[in-house]
Amino acid sequence: MTYSTENTLLYVEDLSVSYGDKTVIKDINFVEKDVIRTGNVTGQVIAFVGRSGRGKSTLFRALTGLVKPSSGKVLIADTTTGIDNDAKVVNEGDIGFVDQKYTLFRNKTVSQALMFALRNKEITKEEKEVKIKEYLHQWGLEKVKDQYPNELSGGQRQRTAIIEQIFCSGHYMVLDEPFSGLDVGNIQDVKDAFNLMTASHEFNTIIYSTHDIELAVELADSIYVIGYPSIEGKLADYGTIVKHIDMKEIGLAWKDFGLDHMEVVKQIKAAMLSS
Ligand SMILES: Nc1ncnc2c1ncn2[C@@H]1O[C@H](COP(=O)(O)OP(=O)(O)O)[C@@H](O)[C@H]1O
Ligand SMILES: [Mg+2]
Repeated sequence: MTYSTENTLLYVEDLSVSYGDKTVIKDINFVEKDVIRTGNVTGQVIAFVGRSGRGKSTLFRALTGLVKPSSGKVLIADTTTGIDNDAKVVNEGDIGFVDQKYTLFRNKTVSQALMFALRNKEITKEEKEVKIKEYLHQWGLEKVKDQYPNELSGGQRQRTAIIEQIFCSGHYMVLDEPFSGLDVGNIQDVKDAFNLMTASHEFNTIIYSTHDIELAVELADSIYVIGYPSIEGKLADYGTIVKHIDMKEIGLAWKDFGLDHMEVVKQIKAAMLSS
């Protein structure tokens, strides 16, 4: 499938994060650009995999501006200025973040929570109601709109959290292990949510982590393995990118999962085992 790339959407240079004097991630460098396919609205889907404790969640906190890097920088496209390739340092709130332990307001129904998420948007109450209605319909949440979080399934909570983040932030969305603890039906719901997001705007960019390597290879067009690098034959004790697979370049993006994808799964597992 042919594609081209244009504006840089995410630029990470020499990023490291330490907690106290413990360096958790170091030397993280990568660039993701807007992927263009003629006749298609193509958002970007970027997966991060790696063994537990290698620093994926820490990287996500740095990407979303929740923790300050100890060195290096994270730039995102500034799509509000109308200037091509205009970039800015990421600030908390620029990127939606659905945390591993995402929490919804216990005392707000789905509709109320979504209205709250729109509180800073400069549109009328009626326009907000229309927008909420549209999303509830598209995301299959109409029936539960007046229910509280404890009356929702895992998948419904997940979708509500994602819409909240879409409402609060711009084109970027980071999801930390969005598939964990979900059954097959809910996994399909989240996949559908990914498709909705990437098909609705050219700049929309999903960044997620998963322990399910098949779900990385099936859904992502760019996959990074975070692990401990080998230095002079010994494993270091900080995480970095140990492998990058560009699924577009090898012709496997936007295709049904097949034998070639299985081969990539194997390669990724091997990279994870040695890092
Ligand atoms: N707030 C924190 N303070 C100190 N150490 C932390 C903190 N958060 C994570 N760590 C440590 O950083 C390392 C990476 O953790 P994390 O980013 O959660 O990895 P992953 O998401 O890949 O499992 C672990 O050793 C973890 O104990
Ligand atoms: Mg984590």
